[in-house]
Amino acid sequence: MKVLIFKTAEEVKVQAARQLLMSVQRNPESVLGLATGGTMEDVYAELVKQSHQHDASWAQVTTFNLDEYWGISSDSPASYRTYMNHHLFDHIDVDPGATHIPPSEGDNPEMAAAQYEARISGAGGIDLQLLGIGVNGHIGFNEPTSSLVSKTRLKTLTQSTRDANLRFFDTMEQVPRYALTVGIGTIMASDECLLVATGSSKAPAVQTMIEGPLAASCPASALQMHQKVTVMLDEEAARDLELRSYYQLVHPDGQESAVSDG
Ligand code: F6R
Repeated sequence: MKVLIFKTAEEVKVQAARQLLMSVQRNPESVLGLATGGTMEDVYAELVKQSHQHDASWAQVTTFNLDEYWGISSDSPASYRTYMNHHLFDHIDVDPGATHIPPSEGDNPEMAAAQYEARISGAGGIDLQLLGIGVNGHIGFNEPTSSLVSKTRLKTLTQSTRDANLRFFDTMEQVPRYALTVGIGTIMASDECLLVATGSSKAPAVQTMIEGPLAASCPASALQMHQKVTVMLDEEAARDLELRSYYQLVHPDGQESAVSDG
């Protein structure tokens, strides 16, 4: 795992956007796995800005989002489809037909999940998977005790996740109880992952993900078994890391090291 610690959340979003954009510029036919949430709002605003500055084309890029609430309409203001259109897709030249979000309703979530998984495989898999992390260690909506080899499926959201996402709704009753999420196995099959976390509320989950045991109680710890993961943190999110000075020695102020350190 490459652990990059930047002084501020501002620097994190600039570097994360830069890595995403570099991936698109290196391979215009990139297949990107995308995340939603508060952290990504800043990353996407910066990504839009950098895309315009560099006149970057997204015309041949394919995207797959990690998750979508189940039981709301996809054009509802709180859906992740609406979020993605608003924060990213409406501002770049990506082909709307090449942007995939798990369905938010239907009679057969199992079949919908299998179809989504098949669509990812059909696109050749994810080249770069962008991830945030929940305060309980979830990635996507793979809540604690999710199978570490899981594929796309319907998950019941924990109360902690519903509490954290209440800010996107008017009342707790409106916060969905379920989500269709890609699995940890799906995430692990991506060629590369970029996990972004900022703020002190993420510090305990970040510490457990990087330095704790590999355990379903912290789904993000599965990334310890992925060959190519970059974790971008601000100082607050890195607060609880026991080997923090080591990560800073290898990557002072989040800089790349001269040698590859996986
Ligand atoms: C959502 C997703 C989640 C979020 C996580 C952090 O698509 O993948 O795992 O990344 O819940 O969300 P924020 O950034 O709102 O703290």
